[in-house]
Amino acid sequence: MDGKFMRMDSQSVSGIIASGGTVLRSARPPEFREKEGRARAYEQLIEDEVEGLIVIGGDGSLTGARNLGSEFDFPVIGIPASIDNDISGTDFSIGFDTAVNTAIQAIDKVRDTAYSHERIFVIEVMGRANGFIAVEVALASGAEAVIIPEVPYSLRKICDDMQAGQDRGKKSSIIVVAEGAATAKDVHEFIKKETGFEARYLVLGHMQRGGNPTAFDRVIALRFGARAVNRLINGFHGEMVGVDGGKLVSHPLSYVLSTERTVDPEKLLLVDVMAT
Ligand code: F6P
Repeated sequence: MDGKFMRMDSQSVSGIIASGGTVLRSARPPEFREKEGRARAYEQLIEDEVEGLIVIGGDGSLTGARNLGSEFDFPVIGIPASIDNDISGTDFSIGFDTAVNTAIQAIDKVRDTAYSHERIFVIEVMGRANGFIAVEVALASGAEAVIIPEVPYSLRKICDDMQAGQDRGKKSSIIVVAEGAATAKDVHEFIKKETGFEARYLVLGHMQRGGNPTAFDRVIALRFGARAVNRLINGFHGEMVGVDGGKLVSHPLSYVLSTERTVDPEKLLLVDVMAT
């Protein structure tokens, strides 16, 4: 928007494949939410003879990209990047797999104390509006329960399940909570008070947003990037690249942004099955 462009070539990305975060260090500014802001950006793009834009980001960035593209008939392609994995039109967004693996590694370590000291641990993972991270983490870490914003939950029932588990001889339990549903602190206090079990809690927080990306994230990011460039130079625009059953796909941004991605009920059921 301020015309602070930086010319990049293939050397500009040398060595970044193993890094987390963003080398661009850019984000959608508040002015970009308004048409005047987008008009300023468009003028800068034209002045600098930029012929197309590839926008890497989540819902907010992709909404900005869609608006800029449609209002000024400017070629844009979106690449889904969000640890939340809440973007429609793709099975995976860049960052999700890394965030899930980071959380799992932390829980594996916590499980040692949980088991040795016969405790219940409540682990809070990211996911302000949805439980994609929480469900995946719960399944992969063998958690006894998961609490997510999309599904009503009963702490009373969770306490009963914990009690039933103890009666069956379970020595420890892990409960995964998506930050948008409840705080781990509140959940652990309730459990302690209602059951008398030893409970602790842990908020994983921003450690899930950084660190070396997994092989899966590196490869999906490369594949998305290559497809986005190809689509753009072949005249496609107003769409987002994604992956569907392992194959790369493209969907109109208007479709992506108007469709809600929902948690797979089979996965939720599986958390319950595995806990019993
Ligand atoms: O939207 C991605 C996300 O990682 C959420 O899961 C999380 O709640 C939020 O961003 C954290 O944002 P901030 O860094 O602004 O606290």
